[in-house]
This record gives sequence, structure tokens and C-alpha cells, in this order.
Amino acid sequence: MNPTKIALRAEGLSKHYGEGNTFIQALQSCDFELQAGEVVALLGPSGSGKSTLLTIIGLINRPDCGSLWIGGNQVIRDGTLVGDVNRVRRQELGFVFQRSNLIPFLSAEENVRVVMELDGTSPSEARVRCREIMEDLGIADRADNAPNQLSGGQQQRVAIARALVNHPSVLLTDEPTAALDKERGRQVMGLFKKAAKQRGAAVLVVTHDHRSLDLVDRTFEIEDGLLEINETSADS
Ligand SMILES: Nc1ncnc2c1ncn2[C@@H]1O[C@H](COP(=O)(O)OP(=O)(O)O)[C@@H](O)[C@H]1O
Ligand SMILES: [Mg+2]
Repeated sequence: MNPTKIALRAEGLSKHYGEGNTFIQALQSCDFELQAGEVVALLGPSGSGKSTLLTIIGLINRPDCGSLWIGGNQVIRDGTLVGDVNRVRRQELGFVFQRSNLIPFLSAEENVRVVMELDGTSPSEARVRCREIMEDLGIADRADNAPNQLSGGQQQRVAIARALVNHPSVLLTDEPTAALDKERGRQVMGLFKKAAKQRGAAVLVVTHDHRSLDLVDRTFEIEDGLLEINETSADS
């Protein structure tokens, strides 16, 4: 077997909300690893803890306890953020949401470039990397269009380009295909798969969309904050 590179490791992540009557254990001691180059679907009913898990490993939300490593860097130790969390957020993590959240007054290309400029990439290199990824995703001919001049599927591709342009170790995505029809949903899942293989990113995708599950490498199921790991995809 090929040695695998671990893109993300989580140990004992737990999270509660509220207290007394409003107490909810949203995550219960979750342990898992994501390998570079794999796509994992995170499945579970509404309220089971999917978004909580995604926002904790995306360093947006803080766990009560547990530890987390992203791209070889420890970022959470015993529930506390450690190390250069801002660098890890900018360089090791990418996010794609159900709505593309593009900046309306910037062109498609500017939406992708803005994250590189924030990160200090030179304008000439930013332009080259931006063009390359937009070509990869089939939207290079729409580079100068504003978001409202693009279809929903094209907007989602711009958001994916923006998430991938910094070569993150981990791409996190919450219901990215929920607003798309079956064919577009499968295309988007196919793009994640291609990005994972070509760029060596681990992709964790929260989805209710069983129409694309044959495209993922593994599935995780969560219920009442308890994570169960299936080693093969649901439909294979
Ligand atoms: N900010 C919050 N305050 C209080 N309860 C929350 C908060 N966020 C989520 N919850 C609760 O935690 C549980 C898990 O929520 P969530 O992670 O959003 O689930 P999912 O994404 O699977 O629908 C749910 O019972 C939800 O109501
Ligand atoms: Mg959710």
C-alpha cells in the first residue's frame, strides 16, 4: 500500500451548547483522520452536529475539548487554539458554502484573486494562478463577468476556484450541491474529486444529496454528535 499523507487529524473533539434546560451535546468525542487526495461525505439528519463539526475543524467555532492537526500543524490542543491559526486559516483551509457568497461588485476573477492578495501573493503570480484554476474549472471565459451575470452553477465554480487557489490541505464544504439539479450537483462533486486527486487536498463535504455519493471515497455518519466512520463509500 502507498504511504498516505494525513491532511487532518481530530482527536476527542466535543462541543456543547447552552446549559440546564437548553443543554445540547452537539459533538461527542469525535476522532478521525482525512487523507490527502480523498473526498469524504459527512452525512446525518438535521441537528446531528454536521455544521458544528465543520466549523470546529474550520477554526470558526471552538470545541470544549480535543485536539486538531491540519496539514501537519497542531491548531487545537485540549480545546485551545495554538500556533499560527490565522496562517493555517488562510493557507491550509478552503471553504465552499451552499450559496456562493461572492462579492457582488467584483468580477469573477477578482473574487478569486482577492484571497491571494490578502495573503501577500504578488499581483503577477496571482493573475497566473487565478487564470489556471479558472481554466481548470471551465470558467476562464467568464473571468470579467460580475457574479450576477453568471448562472448558479458558474457562481459555485467561482467559489470553488476561490477556495482552491491557495492550495489548501483541507477543503470544507457545507451542502454545496443542495441548490443544484442532479446533473450540476454531480458535476460539482466531480470537481471536488478532481481537485482532491490533482491538488492532494482532503475534501470533507456535508451533504444530504444521495445522488452523488457514488463519487466519494468514504462516508462519515453523525447522529446526536456521535461520529461513525464507514471505510467505503455508501454505494460502492
Ligand atoms: N449556536 C448554537 N447555540 C445553541 N445550539 C446550537 C447552536 N448551533 C447548533 N446548535 C444545536 O446543536 C445541534 C447540532 O447543530 P448543527 O451542528 O447545526 O447540526 P446540523 O448541521 O447537522 O444540522 C442542534 O441541536 C442545534 O440546534
Ligand atoms: Mg448544518
